[in-house]
Amino acid sequence: ETAMYTEKFRPQFHFSPAEKWMNDPNGLVFHQGLYHLFYQYYPDDIVWGPMHWGHAVSKDLLHWEHKPIALYPDELGYIFSGSAVVDTNNSSGLGSIENPPLVAIYTYHDPEKENSGNNDHQTQGIAYSLDNGDTWTKYEGNPVIDNNEFLDFRDPKVFWDDDGNRWLMLLVAGDHLQIYSSENLIDWTYLSDFGKEQGAHGGVWECPDMFPLQVEGSDEVKWVLLISINPGGPNGGSATQYFVGEFDGTTFTSDQQEEKWVDWGADNYAGVTYNNVPDGERVFIGWMSNWNYARNTPTEVWRSAMTLPRELSLHKINGEYELKNYPIEAFDTLAESMEVEAGKAEYKTENFNAADIKFTTGFSTSEWRFYNEEGEELLIILDADKKLLSIDRSRSGQTEFHESFADQVHTTPIGNLPGSEFEVRIILDESSVEIFLNKGQYVMTEQLFPDNPYTRFSMKGTSVPGDVIINKVERVW
Ligand code: FRU
Repeated sequence: ETAMYTEKFRPQFHFSPAEKWMNDPNGLVFHQGLYHLFYQYYPDDIVWGPMHWGHAVSKDLLHWEHKPIALYPDELGYIFSGSAVVDTNNSSGLGSIENPPLVAIYTYHDPEKENSGNNDHQTQGIAYSLDNGDTWTKYEGNPVIDNNEFLDFRDPKVFWDDDGNRWLMLLVAGDHLQIYSSENLIDWTYLSDFGKEQGAHGGVWECPDMFPLQVEGSDEVKWVLLISINPGGPNGGSATQYFVGEFDGTTFTSDQQEEKWVDWGADNYAGVTYNNVPDGERVFIGWMSNWNYARNTPTEVWRSAMTLPRELSLHKINGEYELKNYPIEAFDTLAESMEVEAGKAEYKTENFNAADIKFTTGFSTSEWRFYNEEGEELLIILDADKKLLSIDRSRSGQTEFHESFADQVHTTPIGNLPGSEFEVRIILDESSVEIFLNKGQYVMTEQLFPDNPYTRFSMKGTSVPGDVIINKVERVW
């Protein structure tokens, strides 16, 4: 436990950098007992700058240890987003079978070339570590994928393809996904592309990820593709869409017509999943911010945090494939019953700012409100007629720092909830709220900056009162 966790707005149980600027999660991989979290990092300021990979490790995805910076910019450019793999068979020759290398695959962004108007300023490079991520060596033959064509060409996600016995790489090139394969992580062959004419295109495609998931309660397996776009999200600015489809080893296809979003809130971007999770769970972490105002939020020492680690699962609900995302089960171990003064539909305590609240409701118009005596309030409404979940953060605390932060109420169409009762879960952590309906079928993640703690929680119209679980969540540092 360190003093830094008493700073105003500092998350207590979400990952944030000790200091300075952070954006996307990178290189999510489990190896030798540790979950690695690398991230886009600028160590000299609390705004975006020449990108490095910051680094932290955890045994449980909840308690994190900060590590030294893993990757620094070099003569090929800044180190943009990417992934990491355990090269178990030493296919790259960069380690040995006895000590398989951890290999990071990332984008080089060359600012000089960019300024001179070249289209080839983004290329892909690799680096390796033989000590489980503590020290890194860049591959001397970088870049491993050159670029003569695309203005935006980045964010490689590499994973092992069991059926094909080879590596696959996902890359985004502006308005579409590209898939490559390799035997050795060094020589890459272009296989296919996807998406020029499908999905949301309100902004550039970024941070792809793709994996198979079994549809819960059936034997059916589908492939899920995640694509972040900025701008063009459903509530403005950055957001992550997904496609459910098939992958035949070469090409991804989907007959999905409508746009689907992992999270409808304004603050879950660039999220991707872990490689090599021991029990095969699909664990996702996103960056809890939005490019619209990421550089302006009112923190001073550090800027921004990650979402809680969330397990992804695929469901068929009313004939529709739905990707759920919900906090990993281990998160429940941080919860501790909170002392609240219970009223009929209103609870009072000293501080709801690090809380995990769960209850069940039916599909009836309800209003869930966190507020304090100082006039700050976070208003969440389930509108049963319009079939919308909405968040109004216009009076939640500080909002002035950017005009787009609270210029509109953010909404999620929730028309496909199952008819009966469902769980509502609301998790608050100093400067964020995460709302999960029906265990992650509909999710909204948003930042907030209250100047004073919310001391009251009221729930009007909830059709199944009682059995409200109100937990405080312990600090993890
Ligand atoms: C997404 C992104 C990536 C890029 C990185 C740069 O937020 O724009 O596409 O690699 O951030 O920091």
